[in-house]
Amino acid sequence: MKKIYFVTSNKGKQAEAKEKLSTIDFDVIQHDIGYPEIQADTLEEVALFGVEDIQKRFNEPFFLEDAGLFVDCLKGFPGVYSSYVFRTIDCKGILKLMDNEKNRKATFKSVIAYKELDKKPLVFVGECHGDISKKELGTHGFGFDPIFVPSGEKRTFAQMEIKEKNLLSHRGRSLDKLADFFKKIVHEK
Ligand code: IMP
Repeated sequence: MKKIYFVTSNKGKQAEAKEKLSTIDFDVIQHDIGYPEIQADTLEEVALFGVEDIQKRFNEPFFLEDAGLFVDCLKGFPGVYSSYVFRTIDCKGILKLMDNEKNRKATFKSVIAYKELDKKPLVFVGECHGDISKKELGTHGFGFDPIFVPSGEKRTFAQMEIKEKNLLSHRGRSLDKLADFFKKIVHEK
């Protein structure tokens, strides 16, 4: 089994990456060394700034990921501010902002940045469209999982096991692209 480092402090993200990449025989090792999450206009900028910082003190191939929830009726809020908004007003605050709102459409976006020594970082993006539920449901997952229902489903992410969330989610999709890349380089060697 090949090893790959995931720089994250989030155990939920780690569990999802481990499940997904185990399907191509890669073992994901959580490496919680921290990095500055700058305030920027896009998730891509946040992720690439993180890579810049980590590469100065870590020489193994690694990836990191930045994600955000973009709610249509809130004009894309919380988006790049998702982390701060979750820490401050949480799922309940988002539900309150959307009280009586009929348009509940939202999109989760995940940006993975993968870095190998002496190579430019590679970026893999995944999105998942869905709706914000009327109340919090479910106990699995993390973050805004209890209020996000992916399109075509009736349950929130928090009502799904990791494997099921991974088949539908923004992170599942960006991880699929990373897995395709790994499969290609293993194949070429
Ligand atoms: P981060 O900056 O990538 O850690 O994520 C920003 C915010 O979005 C954090 O509060 C996360 O908890 C939340 N978040 C990121 N990914 C997910 C997810 O897959 N489900 C629910 N919430 C998420």
